[in-house]
Amino acid sequence: MKMKVPIIDVKRQLNDIKSEIDLAVSEVLKSGQFILGPAVKKFENEVCKYIGVSHSIGCASGTDALMLALMSIGINPGDEVITTPFTFVASVEVIALLYAKPVFIDIDPKTYNIDAEKIKNAVTEKTKAILPVHLFGRCADMDKINSIAKNNGLKVIEDCAQSFGAEYKGKKAGALSDVGCFSFYPTKNLNAFGDGGIVTANSDEIAENLKIIASHGLKEKYNSIRIGVNSRLDSIQAACLSVKLKYIDKWNNQRVQNAKLYNQYLKDTDIITPSENDIKNSVFHQYSIRVKNRDGLKKYLSSKGITTMIYYPIPLHLQDAYKYMGYNEGDFPVTENISNEIISLPMFPELREDEIKYITDKIKTFLKK
Ligand SMILES: Cc1ncc(COP(=O)(O)O)c(C=O)c1O
Repeated sequence: MKMKVPIIDVKRQLNDIKSEIDLAVSEVLKSGQFILGPAVKKFENEVCKYIGVSHSIGCASGTDALMLALMSIGINPGDEVITTPFTFVASVEVIALLYAKPVFIDIDPKTYNIDAEKIKNAVTEKTKAILPVHLFGRCADMDKINSIAKNNGLKVIEDCAQSFGAEYKGKKAGALSDVGCFSFYPTKNLNAFGDGGIVTANSDEIAENLKIIASHGLKEKYNSIRIGVNSRLDSIQAACLSVKLKYIDKWNNQRVQNAKLYNQYLKDTDIITPSENDIKNSVFHQYSIRVKNRDGLKKYLSSKGITTMIYYPIPLHLQDAYKYMGYNEGDFPVTENISNEIISLPMFPELREDEIKYITDKIKTFLKK
């Protein structure tokens, strides 16, 4: 029998918590405070407690979170920021928008995160920061990254957009460096009903900078002390996120269980699946596998009603917008190779075992063809 399995189904999650969400929204509507106000403050405090940081500042999106973070640590035109070419473009565009220079480092083929071993050689006098991305729900190699940063006087900004709740050596993503940047885009592990983001930090000075920059550079009403932007988390989104935060550990755990099932069903194939270490250390924003005939598999699964995605088909150094940086094909062979083989399968907490069985059966049939 043919099934239809989407890559993510946000409606299943909403059905489970609909009455709580309705109540949260109606309370904000009754309060009449739609910008900032108590719902945002409450959510920021809850995030501080959950992540284990002193400060968190809501903002309009994950992209804004990254931009605010870079501005808060004083990234200026010409500064170099070391990052990965294997990520969503937002991680890099914010560096370029500030007229700073993204410097790419190839990735680790096992984790798909920046290869920390290679960072040292890329540090120059102009390097100001390292921006690792905790891709697909797994933290980058933060001990090595922080130690290189410390030895060279650099700041570290974590792109945690895909890793709310992920842990590294007992600490949460977002508490592992100078600044953590989260997205609440509707497909993320902790997601809003629209755009949203948050920035986390322990330093009082960075937090103060973040608040001022996010609010038109205002230190007090109608007195800008620097050039800022307008980036705020809506009260309605914050109230809904407070409801959802209570469930994040349960949902992340369901993702991990789904990843275990995928691994179990795919165990006797040639497919490269997430490793035992990934299973322990990831919150599986995506469950990605590698196969030689990736495009053929995608097409076949689609014909069987299964939606898959390619994260990411073109490494950033080869995309038109970043050609000006002068990188060429072959510069980051691990990234380029993985971009040709990777495919992400349906992954969300409410995905059922019969769906995983159906998907993996179809994958096995394809491999035998
Ligand atoms: C790694 C990464 N960084 C940044 C972002 C940007 O977040 P947003 O879409 O909320 O601006 C996303 C997701 O969209 C992402 O996956």
